[in-house]
Amino acid sequence: MKPQIQIADDAPALARQAADLIAARAQEAVSARGRFTIGLSGGSTPRAVYDLLAQEPYRSAIPWDCTYVFWSDDRAVPLDDDRSNYKLADTHLLRHVPIPRDNIKPMLRSGDDLDSAARHYVRVVRSFVPGSPPRFDLLLLGMGPDGHTASLFPHSPQLRADDELVVATPEAPLEPHVRRITFTKTLLNAAREVVFLVAGGDKAARVRQVIDGPRATDDLPSQLINPADGSLIWVLDRAAAGELAQHG
Ligand code: 6PG
Repeated sequence: MKPQIQIADDAPALARQAADLIAARAQEAVSARGRFTIGLSGGSTPRAVYDLLAQEPYRSAIPWDCTYVFWSDDRAVPLDDDRSNYKLADTHLLRHVPIPRDNIKPMLRSGDDLDSAARHYVRVVRSFVPGSPPRFDLLLLGMGPDGHTASLFPHSPQLRADDELVVATPEAPLEPHVRRITFTKTLLNAAREVVFLVAGGDKAARVRQVIDGPRATDDLPSQLINPADGSLIWVLDRAAAGELAQHG
């Protein structure tokens, strides 16, 4: 399915657009299926979204008691480490909203080796997210300057882990250079909806390559993401969309 492209004037407008979308999907999911399952990403772009969701009107608009929060990737660091994607969302959002702590599912547990943490997370996802493969209501993703998404990096063996849902990676080629745990394309593409949030002119050329360029998934892992039976939305600020052909 062709991706939908939504262009916001600037990064704050992108954050508002993303927060509006998340609140709408949460309400739709809970009224249709009794729960909202979301996978969060790390990086700097979603931080402003998390801050917004912690404030009115979003704080009251989201049915937090029926919302289950997962991560599509995280760094192999302690949960209180500033490099942790869990800590980013907990600090900017989760500790400020009335979500039952049990509904929050960090990828990493202390003392786990990474492969058993990945296997454990598959069990946790399967126990809360219906479908086979488990079908998240919404997965938020970012795109790195190299075209990676989640922790699926160019030319990495994890790009071909089609039979896996969650895998451990070697040390990342980008900062922070630590091992990661990541959803695979199989789990990402099972989602009802995937939303990329990308801001900044430094990403414009890569955004054009990924969206308008020839298919080169080994070089551009973000091109792997297109839910077979779901929707794909790119929410871009004007700067990141600056090199895109006109998208109606
Ligand atoms: C991570 C993220 C990663 C991120 C991109 C974009 O763990 O680093 O999940 O995939 O989404 O690198 O990051 P920015 O939003 O900071 O550009």
